[in-house]
Amino acid sequence: MSKNYYITTPIYYPSGKPHMGHAYSSIVADIFARFKRLENYNVLFLTGTDEHGQKIEKEAKKNNKDPKIFCDELSETFRSLTRTLNLSNDDFIRTTEHRHHKSVIEIWNKLADSGDIYLDKYSGWYSVSDEAFYDEDEIEDKNGKKISKSSGSLVEWVEEESYFFKLSAWSDKLLEFYKKNPNFILPESRKNEVVRFVEKGLKDLSISRTSFTWGIPVPKNEKHVIYVWLDALTNYISALNFPNIEDKKYKAFWPANVHIIGKDILRFHAVFWPAFLLAAKLPLPKRVFGHGWILSDDKKMSKSLGNILDPIEIIDKFGIDQLRYYLVKEVSLGNDGSISLENLKNCINNDLANNYGNLCQRVFSFIKKNCDNKIPYSTKLNNSDKALLENLKNSLPKLQNLMDNQDLNEYIKTVVGFSFEANKYFNDSEPWTVKKKDPERMNTILFTVVVQIKNISILLNPIIPKATNKVLAMINISNENIKIDNIKNEKILNHKKELGELEILFNKIENDN
Ligand code: MSP
Repeated sequence: MSKNYYITTPIYYPSGKPHMGHAYSSIVADIFARFKRLENYNVLFLTGTDEHGQKIEKEAKKNNKDPKIFCDELSETFRSLTRTLNLSNDDFIRTTEHRHHKSVIEIWNKLADSGDIYLDKYSGWYSVSDEAFYDEDEIEDKNGKKISKSSGSLVEWVEEESYFFKLSAWSDKLLEFYKKNPNFILPESRKNEVVRFVEKGLKDLSISRTSFTWGIPVPKNEKHVIYVWLDALTNYISALNFPNIEDKKYKAFWPANVHIIGKDILRFHAVFWPAFLLAAKLPLPKRVFGHGWILSDDKKMSKSLGNILDPIEIIDKFGIDQLRYYLVKEVSLGNDGSISLENLKNCINNDLANNYGNLCQRVFSFIKKNCDNKIPYSTKLNNSDKALLENLKNSLPKLQNLMDNQDLNEYIKTVVGFSFEANKYFNDSEPWTVKKKDPERMNTILFTVVVQIKNISILLNPIIPKATNKVLAMINISNENIKIDNIKNEKILNHKKELGELEILFNKIENDN
């Protein structure tokens, strides 16, 4: 049976510089994608840019650019971010591509054919920055201006002819679906939020606009452009060559295993998207995971507060593995989390430099000096050696389960715990004192600790791929052998070949840095 796994990030508005929130969504999804590959899944990991709509059109105008040219430039910035973040995405979709255009038209036609679309007039509040319609009770006054209560962004009054999607007709079906699929929306708190929203009853949704032109025209009525969210959400199937549902990619990867998104766009993914799919008679994704918000020093990052942590600057200064590790260790996935430069430095020093980095450095320089630079082999493991290794191996089902449920924090805590334990084991076993009088014991200790380093490195690989690839290459484990299955495979270690050179994995950060 083929094991396929499809995971997506939100596609980003290319309206400005990428920030830490973008980096976070992408890194989290990348970690799950990489983990699934280690489990031998055939993974499709998608990201891209969401280029239509009023927000982008306005931004392009502000910059005196044609919207397509504006998007070409900024989409490239996001594509280059995927490389800077060391993302392993298999595809990068742009909503201005032909493959997406034809997929959106097909979705529209399906909704029209099923009788779910009608023409009327929209009058109500709209936020260009959120590209969202708000009800009267979802907005408030602030300094004489109307803003959205949830996002704080400005709203404006809109009155125009519009096509509507009969969202109201799908409330019961959606509630039934949430009930039958209790893990469709995670974490639980977000699910409850969505269920409460749908239980109040859904209103029909305006799905076309006439006051601007930057979008995909509505079939047979080209003065309308398709609402950017109906357009954008469809990207998840455009990348699978929809409307060709016989296509290999579509067959292998739809329904998606998980859409990773931020909590601000939960309603679009957990209410609108499933309703569109139900109406189009297409299968629904298996899960929508809404992560929390990244705060800087406990406050929302904003230009005016001057507390924006720029991912590119941080990576230049400290390194990509360091940022990846810090973000997912520090922020509890699902909740809002605060990050700061101070904590980042402490985390690099404590968890990476002093723990995993130091363990590798000490063990491999000892082997270089005392064992002809080759990993000793031993079958004389005593109970405590065995216990160290077994403990990790026995926890594999739990670790795999944690990753399947997006419980990244518990996963990291457990794996980092193994690394602390291995450091302690190495210290307490003192191979340097038994070296002369019991070289066999020394070999056993080194064998045990290297097996453990190999296993910890495999488990940390999705999170800090650069550093762990270096360590695993140094012990002569090739990339294709970095697999969860090889955690139980001791034969994978080569005891005849010399170890490669190990450079410093993580520099300690001094205070003035
Ligand atoms: N274009 C839409 C998504 C369409 S998906 C079919 C969009 N784009 S965005 O660029 O504004 O945001 C992309 C992602 O970044 C969202 O998941 C959003 O939640 C996330 N973040 C933006 N700022 C954030 C933080 N400060 N913290 C964490 N993530 C936040 O929305």
